[in-house]
Amino acid sequence: MINNLDISKAMTIKLDDVLPEYPVFKENVRRAPKRELTLNEREIKLALKNALRYVPESLHEKLAPEFLDELMTRGRIYGYRFMPKERIYGKPIDEYKGKCVEGKAFQVMIDNNLNHEVALYPYELVTYGETGQVCQNWMQYQLLKKYLEELTDEQTLAVMSGHPLGLFASHKTSPRVLVTNGLMIGMFDNPHDWAKATAMGCSSYGQMTAGGWMYIGPQGIVHGTYNTLINAGRKELGIPDDKDLAGHLFITSGLGGMSGAQPKAVEIANGVGIIAEVDYSRIETRLKQGWVSKVTDNLEEAFNTAKDYMNKKQTISIAYHGNIVDLLEYAVDNNIHIDLLSDQTSCHVPYDGGYCPKGLTFSERTELLNTDRDKFAELVNKTLAEHFRAVKTLVDRGTYFFDYGNAFMKAVFDSGVTEIAKNGVDTSEGFIFPSYVEDIMGPMLFDYGYGPFRWVCLSGKPEDLRKTDHAAMSVINPERRGQDRDNYIWIRDAEKNKLVVGTQARILYQDALGRRDIALKFNEMVRNGEIGPVMIGRDHHDTGGTDSPFRETSNIYDGSNVTADMAVHCFAGNAARGMSLVALHNGGGVGVSKSINGGFGMVLDGSERVDEILYKSIPWDTMVGVSRRSWARNEHSIETTVEYNKQFAGRDHITIPFVASDDLINKTLDNYNKN
Ligand SMILES: NC(=O)c1ccc[n+]([C@@H]2O[C@H](COP(=O)([O-])OP(=O)(O)OC[C@H]3O[C@@H](n4cnc5c(N)ncnc54)[C@H](O)[C@@H]3O)[C@@H](O)[C@H]2O)c1
Repeated sequence: MINNLDISKAMTIKLDDVLPEYPVFKENVRRAPKRELTLNEREIKLALKNALRYVPESLHEKLAPEFLDELMTRGRIYGYRFMPKERIYGKPIDEYKGKCVEGKAFQVMIDNNLNHEVALYPYELVTYGETGQVCQNWMQYQLLKKYLEELTDEQTLAVMSGHPLGLFASHKTSPRVLVTNGLMIGMFDNPHDWAKATAMGCSSYGQMTAGGWMYIGPQGIVHGTYNTLINAGRKELGIPDDKDLAGHLFITSGLGGMSGAQPKAVEIANGVGIIAEVDYSRIETRLKQGWVSKVTDNLEEAFNTAKDYMNKKQTISIAYHGNIVDLLEYAVDNNIHIDLLSDQTSCHVPYDGGYCPKGLTFSERTELLNTDRDKFAELVNKTLAEHFRAVKTLVDRGTYFFDYGNAFMKAVFDSGVTEIAKNGVDTSEGFIFPSYVEDIMGPMLFDYGYGPFRWVCLSGKPEDLRKTDHAAMSVINPERRGQDRDNYIWIRDAEKNKLVVGTQARILYQDALGRRDIALKFNEMVRNGEIGPVMIGRDHHDTGGTDSPFRETSNIYDGSNVTADMAVHCFAGNAARGMSLVALHNGGGVGVSKSINGGFGMVLDGSERVDEILYKSIPWDTMVGVSRRSWARNEHSIETTVEYNKQFAGRDHITIPFVASDDLINKTLDNYNKN
């Protein structure tokens, strides 16, 4: 019978046989609330055994009670003792140990995701979106680091829900890391079974770029939010293409990981924003960054200031410290007109702390979550119903409301308000309000292939970022389309807008060939020694990569919005073409079982090998989504694929749908029914 000594001897990559000091927790660091824990005694024992798998037997006796205490008080075993004692942040790549550039680059990315200035609950390894983790626990973090130090350019590291399964031989042109997070077998693919598996240490919520290690701070979403707002203004408020949101009011909620981008975006779009946030620490973070310009807990003051700035046609973002529902009810009661309205509370996990009930302060919400989850759920449902009423009244009075990809409308429906469903019964026909993807981002951006391309200058040097900004700008033709002009202006002003939080990173919406050309240009600059190595990637929230009927694929109307083939193909195709890191997750921004989403990371080391990979993989990564949208008969995607087939004749070829006329379909059915 093999014993633990034999097992220890069988591994060269493992945690040390030394008990780390217990960490000192800083008071002012946000902590995750207790997570759902419904394990029976057998499962609790399993959870303990599972966590102890990571550590040598000599430490088991000491750690077992500690891990059990974490499980019972926090709902998860985080292994706090294994948390590094020094500050975690994305250091310049040369400061990491490693046998290949990718191994070092991924360490930069992981550490950036856990930087206290970047992460939402850094002690619980949560980067953003209330529950989005880099990996499940600190033992995994330590082990991942060790594997990445050993990884060579002829191996691939398999990572399953944060767990490094091992290093296996592959090719120089294979991915160096394959990541999956939270994938479940169909019949268990629901939040409850997933939470059980996670509490037992067998699954992880990677959100999108948290578990795919490509998070770049809230900047990642500022550009998308800016695009959404400015295009919502054009579409709904009649703002011309060359004008901005001056004089218009946008109201929303959330100043968290992603939602914190909203005040910055509204200022870049030159509008006036009021953003409700219940957690003062989040307001403080955005205030310190300069992303919010004023704070108040007085609703009259908030609206008076907004009015003043709207009259002056000047921009301001105001954080309202309080509940979004109080703010909206004030607007309803005082007949205040709101132009654009949304919400970005973490409604993908409303019962896990993502949505704060009315009448509770933020600390009362945390306390109630810890003591009485049923009561908490009851209050969430009541508040969601009130939230819906206020939104409905405002919409009836002329406000444009859009769901902002946080599953708000699904949460309202789940709370018992079936009136929010289009057919009043179930969600199969969608909701009575539009989602931003259906109305704006889908038809105006994703259908052409425009999506959130991003990069990180791994040297950590601001001058590298400046050089890449200029290089990217030189690739864009602002005369081609309105979208190109917006992107050109975005990148031209990016440095001035002080968007960097954490590593030297940038986001820039681009279409398939724009992304390819920028990536090739950067690789050439690395080759010429003008800049250090660069990691490119994207948000999973994109044209391709993500199947999510309540968000990314909500403007797919051919019935295929309930399928996940595209996300899996995107992942597999990126792996086959040699992207450095490929990731596939369950859930993302809308919650477990509501989406399958994927992303990639590609390290530009200046080599010709990388040029080759970029030529083939970058167009695929985007065009898989455009092709699928085209097949669903989305008009701009059809235009884009027709053009692509011409340009790539003899290399790539996309199947394009013949469009049957509605008249013919109706006539055929009428005739059938008559006979
Ligand atoms: N639209 C997109 O492109 C996009 C992208 C990423 C994430 N999301 C989704 O948006 C949501 C927010 O993401 P995040 O990373 O900012 O999450 P987060 O949890 O960091 O932030 C949400 C914030 O909402 C606040 N909040 C909760 N209930 C409130 C209430 N009733 N009134 C006022 N404030 C309240 C919380 O205190 C928190 O700070 C998530 O559901 C996420 O999945 C959308």
